Amino acid sequence: MAQRTVRVIMNGVTGRMGYRQHLVRSILAIRADGGVLLSSGDRVTAEPILVGRNAEKLAALAAEHDVADFTTDLDEALTDGSASIYFDAQVTSERKKSILKAIGAGKHIYTEKPIAETVTEGEELVTAAREAGLINGVVHDKLYLPGLIKLKRLIDSGFFGRIFSVRGEFGYWVFEGDLLSGQRPSWNYRAEDGGGMILDMFPHWNYVLENLFGKVQAVTAKAVTHIPERWDEQGRKYTATADDAAYAIFELEDDVIAQINSSWAVRVDRGELVEFQVDGTHGSAVAGLFGCRIQHRVQTPMPVWNPDLPTTEDYRSQWEQIPDNAEFTNGFRAQWEQFLSDVDAGRPHAYDLAAGVRGLQLADAGLASSAQGRRIPIEAFGS
Ligand SMILES: NC(=O)c1ccc[n+]([C@@H]2O[C@H](COP(=O)([O-])OP(=O)(O)OC[C@H]3O[C@@H](n4cnc5c(N)ncnc54)[C@H](O)[C@@H]3O)[C@@H](O)[C@H]2O)c1
Repeated sequence: MAQRTVRVIMNGVTGRMGYRQHLVRSILAIRADGGVLLSSGDRVTAEPILVGRNAEKLAALAAEHDVADFTTDLDEALTDGSASIYFDAQVTSERKKSILKAIGAGKHIYTEKPIAETVTEGEELVTAAREAGLINGVVHDKLYLPGLIKLKRLIDSGFFGRIFSVRGEFGYWVFEGDLLSGQRPSWNYRAEDGGGMILDMFPHWNYVLENLFGKVQAVTAKAVTHIPERWDEQGRKYTATADDAAYAIFELEDDVIAQINSSWAVRVDRGELVEFQVDGTHGSAVAGLFGCRIQHRVQTPMPVWNPDLPTTEDYRSQWEQIPDNAEFTNGFRAQWEQFLSDVDAGRPHAYDLAAGVRGLQLADAGLASSAQGRRIPIEAFGS
C-alpha cells in the first residue's frame, strides 16, 4: 500500500493554539503514528514547515520536535512547490492577508477561526479560494468533542422527539493580570487587536448550532465589558476595549430557540466549562466537552413548586450518563485527519471557508444587535 507525505506550511505555531493543538496534538501526532489510514489502505502523512516572527523560538521548536524546515519569511515558504497546504493559527488580525498570499501561491487552505475580522473580508477569501479551485477548511473543533458527538448521536436517533430549546453556558474566570497573571493572551481583550467574546465565540456557536440543530435565522445579543482594565503579559495595565461577555438568543430553523451565555467573567458552577441543555418533546440532554447526561420522557420526575418546604429531590441524580462507548481522538487531530484525507482525494472539505463566513455573519449580527438594541435577522451566506 502506498504512503504519501503532504508538506504543510504552518503559520502561528508559537501561539497557544498553533503549538499545542495543531502542531503537537495534530500534525506531529499524525506523523508519529505513520499518517492517516485511508479507506483505500494507503496512508497519508504530514510534514510541517514552521513559520513565525521569531527565528529563535522557531529554531527551538524545530529542534525539539525534529522538524527540518522553519522560516520567518512567509513569502519564501510559499514558494516551496513541495508544500501543498497553508495553515494559519496567527492572531486573527494577521490572517486575511496571509491566506490571500497562500491562495495566490496555489496552496490549499486550512485555518483557525474566525477566518477574518469582517464578513466582507471572509467573503473575499471564499471567492479567492473558489476561483483558484483550492480545497479549504476552517477549524470546527467543538463538533469533535466527545460530549457533542454523543449529543449528535442522540439527535440522529430521534431521542428528543421535536427539539424546541437549547441553552448553553460557556465561560470561566479569566484573571485580570494584577493579582494573578491572565491565563489567556491579552489581545483577546483589546478590540483593536481582533479581540472580543462575540468575535471569538459566535463563530463557534454558529457551526455548533447549524450542524446540530439548524441554521441561525436571527440573533438578539447584549455584549458587555464587565472588567474594564486588565494587565498584559508584561504586567502593563491596559484598557479592555473588547467585550468579555455576551448574552444571546439565537432563532434557528424549525422554531428552535437557542440561548447561549458566554463569559470570561463568570465563576464556574457547572460540570464542565461548556454545557448545552437540549429540550425536546420526548427527552432532554445536557452535553459538555466529554459527558452527556439524558432524561427521557418516561423517566421525567414531576417537580412541584412549594416554597414552604426545603428541596428534598436531588435533581442532578435524575439524569443518566451516556457511556463512553466509542474511542474519541483529540478533536483538532480528528479534523486534521479529515482535511488531509480530503486534500489527498482532491475533494472539498465539509467545513469550508463559506461556513467560516457564516460564523462571521453571526458575530457581525451579534455586535450589531448589541449596539442597536434590536433583533437582527440573518440571511445565511451560501444558503
Ligand atoms: N479553535 C479554538 O478553540 C480556538 C481557541 C483559541 C483561539 N483560537 C484562534 O486561534 C488564533 C490564535 O489564538 P491563540 O490563543 O493561539 O493566540 P496566541 O497569542 O497564543 O498566538 C498568536 C500567534 O500569532 C502570531 N502573531 C503573528 N502576528 C502577530 C501580531 N502582530 N501580534 C501578535 N501575535 C502575532 C504569534 O507569534 C503567535 O504565534 C486566533 O485567531 C483565535 O481566534 C481558536
